[in-house]
Amino acid sequence: AVEGLDLFEEIDRLREELGAVILAHYYQEPEIQDIADFIGDSLQLARQAQRTDARVIVFCGVHFMAETAKILNPEKTVVLPDLEAGCSLADSCPPERFAAFLEEHPGHAVVSYVNTSAAVKALSDVICTSSNAEKVIATIPEGTPIVFAPDRHLGRYLMERTGRKMVLWPGTCMVHVRFSEKKIRQLKVRHPDAEVLAHPECEEAVLRLADHVGSTSSLLRRAVESPARRFIVATEPGIIHQMKKAAPGKEFVRAPGRGPEGSCEACGECPHMRRNTLEKLYRCMRDLRPEITLDEELRLRALRPIERMLEIG
Ligand code: 13P
Ligand code: SF4
Repeated sequence: AVEGLDLFEEIDRLREELGAVILAHYYQEPEIQDIADFIGDSLQLARQAQRTDARVIVFCGVHFMAETAKILNPEKTVVLPDLEAGCSLADSCPPERFAAFLEEHPGHAVVSYVNTSAAVKALSDVICTSSNAEKVIATIPEGTPIVFAPDRHLGRYLMERTGRKMVLWPGTCMVHVRFSEKKIRQLKVRHPDAEVLAHPECEEAVLRLADHVGSTSSLLRRAVESPARRFIVATEPGIIHQMKKAAPGKEFVRAPGRGPEGSCEACGECPHMRRNTLEKLYRCMRDLRPEITLDEELRLRALRPIERMLEIG
């Protein structure tokens, strides 16, 4: 039992004892963000995992993020608070079906979003995140056809941005497709001064309403740099914790979801990210479990396209 324990103190003690680094994504609950050594978007966290000399990486995010950290660090112990913290995008793209899809598209360069399993990464030529996707696509020679997986909304947005035609895998993020264009429009009428910030996993109609589209770190930067005082945030609201810290005095309103007010569908939170709690974080450090393990042959195949991404810068 953890009753009576000061979890912040215990986590600090274990961090010291284990020589651990705690990495947290912006979508984690505020308490987890506050105790982490580094907070970032998926690319920043992959880079932190690549350069850390800590013996233990405690990854507060979802499974594919911790798995990416393990692929980069086979000798380190990588734990995450809840092994069930998955991702609807990664789940939408089972490796056997993806392999069959690729057979139907011979000669294509395969660009996969980091939100995929190691097995899908192993079938890919290069990985990208929402903060470097345009740069990654620019490295594919003009004239080479591209398969992009698994997010079809991000894929469509990237086609528009880069002018490249791509064959898209039909996956979506269960969190970002729930934002309601109609309700955001109504909110804009109430707050005509507000800027809309949106992650590119949102549907096209929502992106059309946005003043700024970008990865979580890009949305955070915009919140600081924009002259606006009020923002409607169309991404997981965990990031509002850092927005408030970085831009005190500004107001951040969660973009409303399609579900009835007060429901989980309306709140914008990622049920996978939110499986992690301070208590589970403490337990995973105490027990060094659940731990990410990977077959070495698969790890090596998944490593190649990740390294290619990290070299692109
Ligand atoms: P970022 O790479 O922008 O942090 O996005 C991660 C994610 O899971 C988006 O839903
Ligand atoms: Fe996956 Fe969407 Fe959750 Fe990000 S917000 S981890 S893409 S389900």
